[in-house]
Amino acid sequence: MHPDLTERILQHLETAGQADTLDLAALFAEDHQKIVGALKSIQAHGDLVTATVATHKSLGLTDEGRAVVEHGSHEALVYAAIPAEGIAQASLMATGGPNAKVGFSKAMSHGWILVDKSVSPPLVRRKVDSIVDGVRDQLLLVAQGKGDQLPAKDCADFKKRKLLQETVTKSFVLGRGAEFATTLTKLETDLTMDMLSSGLWDTLKFKAYNFDALGAPPTRGHLHPLLKVRTEFRQIFLEMGFSEMPTNNYVESSFWNFDALYQPQQHPARDAHDTFFVNHPSRSHKFPQEYLERVKEVHSHGGYGSKGYGYDWKLEEAQKNLLRTHTTAVSARMLYKLANQEGGFKPAKYFSIDKVFRNETLDATHLAEFHQVEGVIADVGLTLGDLIGTLYEFFRKLGITQLEFKPAYNPYTEPSMEIFCYHPGLAKWIEVGNSGVFRPEMLLPMGLPENVNVIAWGLSLERPTMIKYGINNIRDLVGPKVDLKMVEEGPICRLDHV
Ligand code: PHE
Repeated sequence: MHPDLTERILQHLETAGQADTLDLAALFAEDHQKIVGALKSIQAHGDLVTATVATHKSLGLTDEGRAVVEHGSHEALVYAAIPAEGIAQASLMATGGPNAKVGFSKAMSHGWILVDKSVSPPLVRRKVDSIVDGVRDQLLLVAQGKGDQLPAKDCADFKKRKLLQETVTKSFVLGRGAEFATTLTKLETDLTMDMLSSGLWDTLKFKAYNFDALGAPPTRGHLHPLLKVRTEFRQIFLEMGFSEMPTNNYVESSFWNFDALYQPQQHPARDAHDTFFVNHPSRSHKFPQEYLERVKEVHSHGGYGSKGYGYDWKLEEAQKNLLRTHTTAVSARMLYKLANQEGGFKPAKYFSIDKVFRNETLDATHLAEFHQVEGVIADVGLTLGDLIGTLYEFFRKLGITQLEFKPAYNPYTEPSMEIFCYHPGLAKWIEVGNSGVFRPEMLLPMGLPENVNVIAWGLSLERPTMIKYGINNIRDLVGPKVDLKMVEEGPICRLDHV
């Protein structure tokens, strides 16, 4: 059996005393890299060998140089391409080999060929009967490893003609080190209790730690882009002093989703075409009774200075369960709680970021479910100016400074504003959200004091996520076609706080 390469090197050093790794590679007929690898493992065992770097310059043929060795120099090829009767220079350029132009001028200066201008058009003819292709002969020497026999001048000339190139190889010159031995003792990798108690540790050799070794990447879960962006939004709300609302109920009653928000029962959004109603259980039964009566009253007859809608409000409609169509249903529950908490109303700032569902036609940017980001502030004497100011502050933290507002309609806010922002990347104004001041018909039945106003706004989480991650189709972000690699390798989200 062949001894291990490390031992062959050591045994060689024992007799030879010194060796260059390049010579060892030739001697053992091994790749030089393998010899160097073996040297590294010898070095890991201690001071067995000395190693100093040596650089070797060597001449080698380029591809073109190899072609010359095989077929002849450019000038020889041109010479060979000239027939006895001569040839027009243009034709010679076509038949005289790959570098006929260079070959032509070299052959001219060697005096091998001439241009006969006594005929028209002029013809190139051979001037001598035979030639010696010195370039090829010299390159052949290089090919045979006898490049050192080449005169320096020719060598420089061939390099300039890109027939030869110099390569630099690094090797190690090895000698015997202080701890030289011809075999490698196995290195210990663990220090055990036995080694310590027996004292054996003192005589053993330990493998050095490799602090450069890369650890195996730990397997772990990955956050979906929507969750990463949600984290950033949450951070902004927290920075602004908002607390998070409990959104852990996808199923909601029509009462909290619509009626509490002063949305009339015949409103088109309450149609099965727009809303997913739930069959099992199809109805909710527990509502704060007095509040429910006040909601019924304000819808059917008005109150609090309002004429109401003037229709026959039905409990059965309010009882219908659905998948919440907006997180404003959660805001309604929270505001009712705020009005009825022990000690009475106190100013509050709430936010939520969670899923909502709409029975919509699906396309590249819409799904039947998405996430809403919602902010709500309840305080004495809030105005539309507070809403606008808050929106500027909120969007500034998202890196958005240019806002515009457009009057809009929501059953539960008055006034209502759509929020537009200028997106420098897309170079246009895009709609980013909806907002408003909650109506007295919504707030007063809850029991909030008359001088308390509530401002609120909502936006989708998907839209900024798609813009931030450069995703054009919602199906690349949500659903069965999502590329898990995208999730795994997607960068963390950092919004450009201004
Ligand atoms: N609920 C609204 C929507 O679904 C958003 C909104 C929230 C509007 C709060 C005004 C106030 O788009």
